Amino acid sequence: MAIKTIIEPFKIKTIEPLRMNTRGQREEILKRAGYNLFNVRAEDVLIDLLTDSGTSAMSAKQWAGLLDGDEAYAGARSFYRFEKVVRDLTGFTHIIPTHQGRAAEKILFAILGGAGKIIPNNTHFDTTRANIEVSGAQAADLPAKEALIPSLVKDFKGNMDITALERLLKQKGREHVPLVMMTVTNNSCAGQPVSMGCIRRVSELCRSYKIPFFIDACRFAENAWFIKTREPGCKGRSVKELAQEMFSYADGCTMSGKKDGLVNIGGFLAMNDDELAQKARNILIVTEGFPTYGGLAGRDLEAIAVGLEEVVEEDYLHYRIISTKYLGDHLVRDGVPILQPPGGHAIYLDAARFAPQLEPLDLPGVSICVDLYVLGGIRAVEIGTAMFGRHDPETGIEHPGPRELVRLAIPRRVYTQSHIDYVIEVVTELYRRRQSLRPFRFVEQEPVLRHFTASYTPAVRG
Ligand SMILES: Cc1ncc(COP(=O)(O)O)c(C=O)c1O
Repeated sequence: MAIKTIIEPFKIKTIEPLRMNTRGQREEILKRAGYNLFNVRAEDVLIDLLTDSGTSAMSAKQWAGLLDGDEAYAGARSFYRFEKVVRDLTGFTHIIPTHQGRAAEKILFAILGGAGKIIPNNTHFDTTRANIEVSGAQAADLPAKEALIPSLVKDFKGNMDITALERLLKQKGREHVPLVMMTVTNNSCAGQPVSMGCIRRVSELCRSYKIPFFIDACRFAENAWFIKTREPGCKGRSVKELAQEMFSYADGCTMSGKKDGLVNIGGFLAMNDDELAQKARNILIVTEGFPTYGGLAGRDLEAIAVGLEEVVEEDYLHYRIISTKYLGDHLVRDGVPILQPPGGHAIYLDAARFAPQLEPLDLPGVSICVDLYVLGGIRAVEIGTAMFGRHDPETGIEHPGPRELVRLAIPRRVYTQSHIDYVIEVVTELYRRRQSLRPFRFVEQEPVLRHFTASYTPAVRG
């Protein structure tokens, strides 16, 4: 008989206790936090699914690497080790360390962005969009059409709409499109993967227009795993080889090591173009640090180097993607509406279908997050009207966001199957009691990125 249970491919050496609290205590904590989970202390959270970014557990080898870090200002051994690993993986000539992904984006768009430019992506992540817009350029999202159908189960819903890209390149030309980006996996489209075929076709199109093509590579290993398991002809190839092929189609990448670098801080910018790299290093020295440390300690560079080797291990990726799917499949089995199919790093509850009695301006995602915390001490994040809606200060009118979601992001190597079973039980129980979900209203909000600092209050409808 074949054994079906897939186990965590690691054992636990160091533990961090979870502090149990009661429902009554959690109600008090939330009230004091203005019902905003961002205002709750991490030690008051039982299972923290706020983000998969910077929340990974490091391996014994990474911790050993920290001790071995070379902290020289210039030419540290740790930099050369880091550079070698990144170059081997990506094939890019110039490897520029940054303190995290958005610092790489800021440098890239400070050089290539600017007024009158337009930068397409399958879907821009918030910081990518913000850095493009700060430069004066416009950020264009070109997701594949199937990405917009939540219940559709399809293999590569993270793809770019290539016809729309072709149209844009034809209209605007290389004078107005300084580069094309592709985010793998597509975080803003529920962590859905991008196929190798799509990456290849976008690359060919960019080359025919002589426009640089950059990958936002935060979750490159998770994407390569999906390619291996879903794309015809890829099963027999190693994840590392597939990742190398993905990078071979690009002229550079931005990377947040806080995801598939399996570290708590760090990132890089990489590219082949010598002139662009020179300009990037000049900015790096002003804003981040000397090019052989770029805003990181030598020990951080060591930890990323080890993390990038561990993240392409197939036992790890098998467990990682299967455990996200495990959560998604169990919720679907229990009738809970989620965005389908389960992505790489998170499960997204479809809050509009979860709480159909609530309108977007009732903040259904906030309501679900509040009750997930009260019921089970779980911290999730609303991605809906609180995050992407708009308050008009002149009229006082609230405008809803494009859709109502709650993201359960899964930190890497942190929680075991029993933690996930607990999450399934709590979410399913809340879904069973969904009629009790209350509307919420803003009490206070800031004009930018209001969801981080806002406070809310439960309201009576009508
Ligand atoms: C797709 C994507 N790009 C860029 C970033 C920014 O990375 P960082 O948080 O390291 O600045 C993130 C972070 O979540 C991301 O998911």
